[in-house]
Amino acid sequence: MSKIKIGQVGLGRLGQVHAENILNHVKGAELYAVASVVEKELDYARDALGVENCYTSYTEMIEDEALDAVVIVSPSGFHAVQITQALDKGLHVFSEKPIGLELENIKQVVEKIDHNQDKVFQLGFMRRFDESYQFAKEAVQNGDLGKITAMRCYGIDPSAGLDSFIQFAKNSVSGGIFLDMSIHDIDLVRWFTGSEFKTVYSLGNNIAAPELSECEELETGACLAELEDGTIAYLLAGRNAQHGYHVETEIIGTEGMIRIGNAPEKNLVTVYDKNGVVRPTSGHFPERFKLAFINELNAFVESINKKEPSSITGIDGLKSTEVAIAMQESFESKKIITL
Ligand code: NAI
Repeated sequence: MSKIKIGQVGLGRLGQVHAENILNHVKGAELYAVASVVEKELDYARDALGVENCYTSYTEMIEDEALDAVVIVSPSGFHAVQITQALDKGLHVFSEKPIGLELENIKQVVEKIDHNQDKVFQLGFMRRFDESYQFAKEAVQNGDLGKITAMRCYGIDPSAGLDSFIQFAKNSVSGGIFLDMSIHDIDLVRWFTGSEFKTVYSLGNNIAAPELSECEELETGACLAELEDGTIAYLLAGRNAQHGYHVETEIIGTEGMIRIGNAPEKNLVTVYDKNGVVRPTSGHFPERFKLAFINELNAFVESINKKEPSSITGIDGLKSTEVAIAMQESFESKKIITL
């Protein structure tokens, strides 16, 4: 079977992870072309990755008739239009989250995805491909926890990245902490419970990074939510974990509970020294979700080859964005929002 020819847009923080994964860990695909607005990144693609087809324009890249699929890892504000353009060219699409930043826009993209059922569309909710989350999902599906009553989700970026985020936030739109970060937890809550969010109430502050107030961003954002089936969810997102990259999920059921990433352990090592007994922690998302990022791209290519829809659809993108936008609205209005 010939390899799926992928054109990737964006070679930044996450783009480089995806590009190297396609090159080294996705057997069924080839990194055929890349697009980036940064010359240095294209040099890296040519020199370090051996990509021959390098473009400064995404629209030019997708003109290439040889392409089968695109992987979109550009800033979030470009996703909606780039997904649409790729589908119009008859390409399969893997897009990073979120699907877009504005609801009307996203609804049009989802309609476009619906009208192109013969093309695979997959959204980058990579946590669903992490082996610990898959283990937990199986336990929930087997009924090991009974009925889910509550979930608690933490997603806190490392303090080491806070300064660069402040610089980023001054120049670009992330969509805000709920759309940028909580969206992963929103997706997990929907995935584990099979239920939709009904009401949300959010709070936020910039105690750890007052500069973020100037660019209307939050360092910490939290939300208490009720789902249609009565499940309670508490979601906390932040950008200042001093100990590393902290992603933790707790699922409480009538027959038991599960914690994933209770402590963000790097490996099985424990250090005993003058600092006491220390467990090294994972430092950033590419480290914690290394295999999940590989697995999600392999699943995308497998769906293309098998001509099957992916497990993470446009509707997952739309629903999670609706919740994230409601969370932002609740924070701004200080009101409970009903979806
Ligand atoms: P970044 O700012 O580091 O990189 C953005 C890249 O897009 C750069 O290569 C830049 O040259 C390129 N770019 C910008 N405008 C462009 C345009 N008009 N045409 C072509 N290329 C353009 O951003 P980062 O952190 O890599 O994030 C990219 C996306 O990935 C975001 O949507 C973000 O939400 C998502 N992301 C997802 C994560 C996850 O856990 N699944 C983790 C980090 C980011």
